Amino acid sequence: MRKRAVLITGAGGEIGHGLITRLAASTGAPPIVTIDLAPLDAPLTPYVARELTGSITDAALLERVLAEFEIDQIFHLAALLSTRAEFTPVTAHQVNVEGTLNLLEFAQREAESHGRPVVFMYPSSIAVFGLPDLETKRRAGRVTEDDWNCPTTMYGCNKLYCEHLGRYYAHHYKQLAAEAPAGRVDFRCVRFPGLISAATIPSGGTSDYAPEMIHAAAKGERYACFVRPDARIPFMAMPDGVDALLHLAAAPRERLTRTAYNLGAFNPSAEEIRAVVQDAFPGAEIDYVVDAKRQGIVDSWPADVDDRAARADWGFAPKYDFHRAFADYLIPAIRTRYRAGHETIGM
Ligand code: SER
Repeated sequence: MRKRAVLITGAGGEIGHGLITRLAASTGAPPIVTIDLAPLDAPLTPYVARELTGSITDAALLERVLAEFEIDQIFHLAALLSTRAEFTPVTAHQVNVEGTLNLLEFAQREAESHGRPVVFMYPSSIAVFGLPDLETKRRAGRVTEDDWNCPTTMYGCNKLYCEHLGRYYAHHYKQLAAEAPAGRVDFRCVRFPGLISAATIPSGGTSDYAPEMIHAAAKGERYACFVRPDARIPFMAMPDGVDALLHLAAAPRERLTRTAYNLGAFNPSAEEIRAVVQDAFPGAEIDYVVDAKRQGIVDSWPADVDDRAARADWGFAPKYDFHRAFADYLIPAIRTRYRAGHETIGM
C-alpha cells in the first residue's frame, strides 16, 4: 500500500523552513515528503517522514515518490531566483520550467493513480510584471494580475509561463483525448512579493536588499544597499506568506475565480526600511552602493499590487503591516536568533 503524503520541493529553502514547521504542527496533517538538492537543516528533519536529496529534473526520483506515496498536495517551492537566474539563464529554465513541467506531469499521474485531484501549490512572483520605465511604474500604482505581464528577467518569464502551464494542466490537459483523464491537477498559484524571514537569509533574489539589511544590522555588520533609497516594491513577512499558501491550498475550489493571485502586505521604499532598521539597531551602518543593473530589475517590478481577488476569493488577510512586521516579528525574532548565536528554525 502506498502511503498518503504531502510533497514539498525546494523544502530546505526560505519558504520551506516556515512551511514544514507549520504543516507539521497542524492537526491531522499528512506525513511530509521533501525533495531538495541539499540535505535539510538538522532541526527540520524530525518533522519530515521522508527526505529525498536530489533534483526535480531527475525523473527517476519522482518515479520513486510515485511508487511509494499517494500525494494529494504538492508545494512546489524549488526555483532559482531572479538575480541568480540572470547569470545562468539556461539552468534557470531547466529548473524553473522543465522542473515544474516534471512536477505537473508527476501530479497528473498521481491524480490518475489514486483518482483524486492533486492540489498543486505554486509560488509565482511580482517578477512576472515588467514595467518599462519609472514614470509608468509611478502611474501604474497598484497593478492587477493581468496588467503589465511582460517580464524582463528569465525568472519572471519562467514564472509567468509556469502559471500558464499550471492553468493548462488544471483545465485543458489532453483536451483532444477520446476519454478524459481519470484525475486532474488542481493548480493554485500566489504571486509573492519580496518575502522577509527572520529565520533564513535569502540568496539569489533581487528583493534581497530588505532582508539582507535587517540581518546585517542584527549581526553588527555594515551593509551596502544595492538599490536607490526611493526603490519601492511590495514585501511580506514570511509567516503571512506561509499562511497564504495554506489558506489557498485549503480553499474550496468553487470559490476560486483565478489561477494566479496577487498578494501584498506593505510596500516601503528602501529608505523607509533603512530608517526602521536603524531605529531598532542604532549602531547599524547602512549606506547605498547602487548596482544599476539590479536596480533596473527592481524598477521593472510594480510599486504595489492589487490583491483584492485573493482577499475576496479565499480570505487572504496578512497579519503584518510594515510596522507590525518589524516590531512584532522581524526585530524580536532576529535579535533572538543572533543573540543565541545559532540558527533557529521556524518562520
Ligand atoms: N524574491 C524574488 C526575487 O527577488 C522575487 O520573487 O527573485
